[in-house]
Amino acid sequence: MAGMNPSLDPAAPLAADRAEPAGATGPVLDRLGRRLHDLRISVTDRCNFRCTYCMPREIYGRDFAFLPRSEVLSFEEIERLARVFVAEGVEKLRVTGGEPLVRRDLPDLIAMLAALRRADGGPLDLTLTTNGSALRPLAGLLRDAGLGRITVSLDSLDDATFRAMNGIDYPVARVLDGIAAATESGFGPLKINMVVRRGINETSILPMARWARREGHILRFIEYMDVGHSNGWRLDEVVPASEIVGLIHAELGLEPLPPNYTGEVADRWCYRDGDGEVGVIASVSQPFCSSCTRARLSAEGKLYTCLFALDGTDLRGPLRDGAADAELTAAIRAVWRVRADRYSELRSEATANRPRIEMFAIGG
Ligand code: GTP
Ligand code: 5AD
Ligand code: SF4
Ligand code: SF4
Repeated sequence: MAGMNPSLDPAAPLAADRAEPAGATGPVLDRLGRRLHDLRISVTDRCNFRCTYCMPREIYGRDFAFLPRSEVLSFEEIERLARVFVAEGVEKLRVTGGEPLVRRDLPDLIAMLAALRRADGGPLDLTLTTNGSALRPLAGLLRDAGLGRITVSLDSLDDATFRAMNGIDYPVARVLDGIAAATESGFGPLKINMVVRRGINETSILPMARWARREGHILRFIEYMDVGHSNGWRLDEVVPASEIVGLIHAELGLEPLPPNYTGEVADRWCYRDGDGEVGVIASVSQPFCSSCTRARLSAEGKLYTCLFALDGTDLRGPLRDGAADAELTAAIRAVWRVRADRYSELRSEATANRPRIEMFAIGG
């Protein structure tokens, strides 16, 4: 990694000035003063979709080598690590993939995570991001297991556009049925995430806004990002959040809403003449790294401190070698204390093509 900006390298050695005594307690802060608040847990690197911006079919075909089962963390291992993170102050767990619902018996893991409590005894914010295709059979089981919220990815209501974007010709009606199942199971209001790509699904912005408003879902438009290195990202495919807001405002009238919490990734808007909320996630045009409190655990047990990291720190090795909780805690704190990631603030033409982890390996 010669020549790499050390502030982008999550595996940089622990600087002497950042070392802390064994057994240190209290909230751990990174080099930019950010605390550790969210853990995003990828439970599998597999997905039944092949979205063109995430796992293009040409690359992730039949021959692609996904992780063998022995390398994927078991539910017990995930729960153990989540427990250690929660003891370190994590208050929100987001279960992701790949597509998390392709992992067998996922409701069992949800039940294990739902039983965890924050240090002050309060419940965690336990949520899941899914492409929605398996919600019809699973939504009720996930609810019964204690899942709090669900976010569904949906890039268009237009069947042809949706089929092309998901890469497997999957009909939009089946995702809409999954969304209905989640609502029937008590998960509403749902969050719906739509990645916007210029020339591909920008004409779906207004129909999606009208639909989400009618159905009572919170729709968030996401600027297309240069995550991973297989989607061939170009800046001119990004539709800036300001343009999206302008488009909806012109037809439906919007007013800004204050953030729900510090560091919320979406800028929120409500409709001027009644109910409904939309959000924009402007990670390209208005990066939010300064308030980034998210850690990511990959399916194979690596800890990543940025969506754009080249590599992570292995926690599975120590876990399987019998590390005590205190050792796992020390490893996590050591990683977080040297963290200086702020990729989206440093993004340039040159950084866009740098090798890095793929998004499906660490979840959205
Ligand atoms: P809520 O808890 O519902 O507020 O979820 P969230 O706001 O954390 O959003 P979610 O997890 O649904 O993330 C939505 C999208 O925002 C992701 O799919 C990414 O595209 C983007 N995103 C989320 N976190 C980050 C981040 O740390 N960095 C960047 N660059 N993008 C992010
Ligand atoms: N840009 C922005 N968001 C992305 N996601 C995946 N790839 C990208 C990308 N290139 C996010 C989407 C999707 C979730 C699973 O990951 O929000 O809904
Ligand atoms: Fe699968 Fe989500 Fe990636 Fe699409 S964006 S390929 S649904 S992990
Ligand atoms: Fe956090 Fe990295 Fe995203 Fe910035 S680019 S918000 S540091 S994950």
